[in-house]
Amino acid sequence: QVKGFLFDLDGVIANTSVYHAKAWHQLADELGVTWTEDLGNQLKGVGRMDSLNLILKYGGKENDYTEDEKIKYAEEKNDNYLKLLDTLDKSEILPGMEDFIKDLAAHHYLISLASSSKNSPLVLEKLGLAQYFDEKVDPATLKHGKPDPEIYTRAAEVLNLKPEECIGLEDASAGVTSINGSGAISVGIGDPKVLHEADINFNDTSEVTLDNIKKEMDKKKF
Ligand code: BG6
Ligand code: MG
Repeated sequence: QVKGFLFDLDGVIANTSVYHAKAWHQLADELGVTWTEDLGNQLKGVGRMDSLNLILKYGGKENDYTEDEKIKYAEEKNDNYLKLLDTLDKSEILPGMEDFIKDLAAHHYLISLASSSKNSPLVLEKLGLAQYFDEKVDPATLKHGKPDPEIYTRAAEVLNLKPEECIGLEDASAGVTSINGSGAISVGIGDPKVLHEADINFNDTSEVTLDNIKKEMDKKKF
């Protein structure tokens, strides 16, 4: 029986994955690494330093910089990202997600946040959605980022639930892998070709409702 929902933030609740991509694209240009859609998809859901390392590897530049230089570049990306957040407000909540979260709370499901982003508390505040979350995982306390299952295992644990009692929602391939590894049911939101590992797929956040999830779970015999 499902008792809890584990949420990714960027690209699931808010349109902020676009801002992350913009800021990484800007840095990739500066580093002389060609930006592609495939690289963009690989970076989704992945933590700050892991993302920088993926970009450098993608461009064959993994040995070109010292750890200190890499930290400086990661900070530069974050500064650019924060500038893009300046004007962030409720209008950047993805279609249907505010109603969905309110509906979950009204039905007494437990809700936790499983975002890799250290900026996630700020984003949730700006969106006016922080009060709906019973618990949050602090990504700074994790040993391994997505696609490792640790963040989703913890997101269930902080609700005092087993992962098997939870549904995780993701827009990123690395995130779906993480949910699946934890044992929770995975919902992939976005291109089903990219998110083919998910237990349940929706093309768009507007399709994500309790009813639709229940229907899909019945179909898949959960
Ligand atoms: C994830 C985003 O939620 O958080 C990634 O999908 C981002 O794009 C990661 O790299 C880490 O975020 P931050 O804000 O801590 O750099
Ligand atoms: Mg995401």
